[in-house]
Amino acid sequence: MAVGQQDSTRVRASIAAELRRHGIGRREFLTFCASLAAMMALPAEAAQQIAAALGKARRPSVIWLSFQECTGCTESLTRSHSPSIESLIFDLISLDYHHTLQAAAGEAAEQAREAAMKEAAGKYLLVVDGSVPLGDAGFSTIAGIANRDMLHEAVQGAAAVIAVGSCAAFGGLPAAQPNPTGAVSVGDLVKDKPVVNIPGCPPIPVVMTGVIAHYLVFGSLPELDALGRPKMFYGETIHDRCYRRPFYDQGKFAESFDDEGARRGWCLFKLGCKGPVTYNACATTKWNGGVSFPIQSGHGCIGCAEPRFWDMGGIYRPLPQPIGDMRGAALGVAAGAAAGVAIAWHNRSRKQQAVASHQTMKVGDLKK
Ligand code: SF4
Ligand code: F3S
Repeated sequence: MAVGQQDSTRVRASIAAELRRHGIGRREFLTFCASLAAMMALPAEAAQQIAAALGKARRPSVIWLSFQECTGCTESLTRSHSPSIESLIFDLISLDYHHTLQAAAGEAAEQAREAAMKEAAGKYLLVVDGSVPLGDAGFSTIAGIANRDMLHEAVQGAAAVIAVGSCAAFGGLPAAQPNPTGAVSVGDLVKDKPVVNIPGCPPIPVVMTGVIAHYLVFGSLPELDALGRPKMFYGETIHDRCYRRPFYDQGKFAESFDDEGARRGWCLFKLGCKGPVTYNACATTKWNGGVSFPIQSGHGCIGCAEPRFWDMGGIYRPLPQPIGDMRGAALGVAAGAAAGVAIAWHNRSRKQQAVASHQTMKVGDLKK
């Protein structure tokens, strides 16, 4: 069944029933809940509470709108390795409407959106990727409807709004100088509903799904920072948890991408790394199922999760001044080591899940 054509009995089904439908047994479910607890930095004992809450929860309806964007956010999610927590979470929701993933087109697609908004009025999660152009209504339209108008309409019945990616969260590349379309963020326009920002270009899949998991488990959105980002994923900088941090603290820096320092894995600060001023979870959750992240691949962080990162002085231009004192550095390294243990466990349990479960749930199932 395609996105936008889910039957209402599945929307009303409990998550426990949905898991059974996918052949997920109790043991696998508990392993999954333990992974969720680790992801949310909760103690292991929380897995039982998560299992109880998730088992009773109803599948929430999600409407996903895509405005001025490159589809990277959706690609990030759907290209994540599978089976995974990401795919599990997205099978636990009722993705009623998604511009990119849905099979429906034209009038049928718009009818699906209107039907989903009506059926789950006041309860659905509205996910938006892409910025909204205010310069001219015709700069970006869907079915002839300006992005601004579609957002305004869809937000009325939403329980909460999740702005996925740096474009939706902060305006992103469309808003880079000289901002020809007058692009603004979702939060610039939505003032009467809770808005969670999940920045990143693209955002990390496990961070997207972690926010939805929190909503499923606790029935509420996670605690946010001053920029509307979930603190559990954006509470520390890349630099705080970077495995190259000891080299930074020792003053050992690569001066070019092919010098001896680069080969030895020294700090990339002098090559323009923006890790010290970028809040995101890349250094701990990593990408592609915990395989790597930009700095581990030999390139500095370009600060893609921060507001106006494209206009902040050049990707390869170093920050003006090394930061932090040695006490802070020591604390950062200790915290990084602890997080590394937790994340390593998380990634290990995910791999075990993949091997043990033989489960068949994939994001692609949403299209059936
Ligand atoms: Fe890691 Fe960049 Fe910080 Fe160096 S400057 S320790 S490479 S985050
Ligand atoms: Fe972006 Fe920096 Fe992570 S460039 S992907 S926030 S390491």
